[in-house]
Amino acid sequence: MLIANPNAARASYPEALQNIMSIRKADESRVWLAGWSRLNSGGTPLYSLPGMAAELGVADILVKDESERSVLGSFKALGAPIALVRLIQRQFPAQRFEARGLLAGEYRSVLAGFTVISATDGNHGRALAAAAQSVGCRCVIVLHANVSIEREEAIAAYGAEIVRISGNYDQSVEEAAALATKNGWLVVSDTSYDGYEEIPRDVMQGYGVIAAEIVEALALRQISSRTLTHFFLQGGVGGLAAGIAGYLWELFGAERPTFIVVEPVQADCLFQSAIAGRASKATGSVDSVMAGLACGETSPLAWRFLQSCIDFFMTIEDDEAVTAMRRLAAGSASDIPLVAGESGVAGLAGLIGLVNDPRLAEQVGLNGESRVLLINTEGATAPGVYRELVSESAQSVLVRQRAWLQGRCAK
Ligand SMILES: Cc1ncc(COP(=O)(O)O)c(C=O)c1O
Repeated sequence: MLIANPNAARASYPEALQNIMSIRKADESRVWLAGWSRLNSGGTPLYSLPGMAAELGVADILVKDESERSVLGSFKALGAPIALVRLIQRQFPAQRFEARGLLAGEYRSVLAGFTVISATDGNHGRALAAAAQSVGCRCVIVLHANVSIEREEAIAAYGAEIVRISGNYDQSVEEAAALATKNGWLVVSDTSYDGYEEIPRDVMQGYGVIAAEIVEALALRQISSRTLTHFFLQGGVGGLAAGIAGYLWELFGAERPTFIVVEPVQADCLFQSAIAGRASKATGSVDSVMAGLACGETSPLAWRFLQSCIDFFMTIEDDEAVTAMRRLAAGSASDIPLVAGESGVAGLAGLIGLVNDPRLAEQVGLNGESRVLLINTEGATAPGVYRELVSESAQSVLVRQRAWLQGRCAK
């Protein structure tokens, strides 16, 4: 399903939003993260998929591959550490902790009694646990009933204490808030709610690094990022989309590209927000194979950015995501095989859905001239689920990927 956002506008980036998120702050986040040992150095690759572009009838498809961001497996590794660093700096103003020193664990003896807590579907919790371990503070993660054991183990591997509840995601958020109040811990959530905006703002600010790297990578190829026509951004609570779209809106103003947000049909909170004209809840079961996107409520802070810069909102079915995972894993003579997880492929699934329906493709302006940007937001963050859905392990896809790259170098 696709709707045009009735409130989408082409205007310069409003000052009120610039005071919340800005290119300057995203660039500062990038400098801090460059020193964090959990991230791979040099940012993530931007691949072109000419074979798929030809097949889908567009001029170019570029994929920013966040599966290669870090051992943590997803773009979420950019948000939690920034939010944690800024939180600690606010909590301990007198100590004047320096960001890179914090992430290097230089102040761990002072922070051993400091505890952060969050509910998670998986990726944010893993990133927060890893950041807390690096910083040297304590981390408690609350998991709802549908978070798989392999995701739980991946979080616990970074030293977080796990609290498992029998309820759903929204109840895990409530449990995290209750435990924080009871114990004097601090919630580091990637979604905002009434009276809680600073931390999710800092999380989103970290995601701006992705946009900065895209612009830079294209400039190195002597391509203007202005030539990109369509960005597909997958939506959970809306933080990723706000972080990327906000950066590019500030950079390009009214000349920004077309932004399309893609969500699972069962977790359509952003789609519903566009209909209602305000941050709203999902209408479906909020249970999707796209675990990272299975969010029932829009982040009101993210919505302040999305409400007027997202041109279209669309929903996809789980099986469309699985098809997209297989297509990216397969690769071809011209396209590198990619390990893209369930939530990572939502943008591609959205693109395929639109080009397969000429009426919809025309509505969003997709044609042979279009240059499309997709973000593979995660690799095989649940390796067992990945193997089952793709019928091949992530390791095996990576072996083929290496062979493909070697073949390229040999040419
Ligand atoms: C892999 C992946 N992609 C996209 C998203 C969506 O991000 P947001 O909830 O900020 O919209 C998530 C959220 O957890 C995720 O894990």
